[in-house]
Amino acid sequence: MIDLYNSNNKARKILVADDDQTQSEILTQLLKDNGYECLSANNGIDAIETAIKHFPDLILLDVDMPGENGYEVARQLKAHKNTRMVPIVMLTALSELGAKLEGLEAGVDDYLTKPYRPVELLTRIKALLRVKALNDQLDDTESIVFTLARIIEAKDSYTMGHADRVSRYSVLLGKLLKRSEAELEILDKGGVLHDIGKMAIPDTILLKPGALTKEEFGIMKTHPVMGCTICERLRSAKDAIPLIRHHHEKLDGSGYPDGLKRDEIPVLVRIVTIADIYDALTTRRSYKDAWSVDKTFSVMYEEVKKGWWDGDILRTWEQFVRSEDFNTMVARRIHVKAMPGA
Ligand SMILES: [Fe+2]
Repeated sequence: MIDLYNSNNKARKILVADDDQTQSEILTQLLKDNGYECLSANNGIDAIETAIKHFPDLILLDVDMPGENGYEVARQLKAHKNTRMVPIVMLTALSELGAKLEGLEAGVDDYLTKPYRPVELLTRIKALLRVKALNDQLDDTESIVFTLARIIEAKDSYTMGHADRVSRYSVLLGKLLKRSEAELEILDKGGVLHDIGKMAIPDTILLKPGALTKEEFGIMKTHPVMGCTICERLRSAKDAIPLIRHHHEKLDGSGYPDGLKRDEIPVLVRIVTIADIYDALTTRRSYKDAWSVDKTFSVMYEEVKKGWWDGDILRTWEQFVRSEDFNTMVARRIHVKAMPGA
């Protein structure tokens, strides 16, 4: 019975998307009789909206529906971050190979030709829900890691909120630099996780007021590699690994851990680096007061001259920080994604 329930012990929810009301009712009754909770949609647009709003565990999708057809619905749901991991079984009267291939290309997980045998349908649903349950468990693990990233900084009142600010600033900079939606997602995660390796640094070093000794700094410098070790097996953090590993690299090769130079440092890493340093300098730390915006940029431009940071990205950031939009965002604590024109 375990596959009838999700991790919250609630009945598994299945969305039936079919414009044929009789078919839809028969299917819904069959599923309810077998312990599932059902949602229904009778056209493509309704199917997309219901799936995004109600997070079903699985979707049974008809091909021919008014509005968006089943292939288009599948394509859109597999591209949406809320629904891309939800298994889709396509139900159709079509049995041609071409139609099946089109469904698989659209991201459909399984295919069943009408008239289907209930036992076959239920067996396939169970198999897909088992995979979904494993994915849900992975998601739980991942959310624990993201929570841990915030707990580390909570140890030190001076760095409270740093990870979230670096994430917000990085996404904003990414938008200003016209990076793709997928890259903005990587910046969002990379910003939160960039210092997660500090979990492995002893508190005597992490929370030490004042300057670190050479030996202590050597230990502190291991945090980017430690961060990769923590995150490398997490599916959703995979793309953010370069940001975690390289956010202390400098363009002239004098950074750590790998001494990367210029083009070896990806643009997304350079963005997180600027966001990280800007936030560290403009907030209070155990060893310094919060610097003014003028002093922060003056020091960062000096470091651009030394060959450390990307001057173009820094100029883009400065322009925005000195604009009305930035002040409004900080004053109202507006999330970057809601910023007009950003
Ligand atoms: Fe760091």
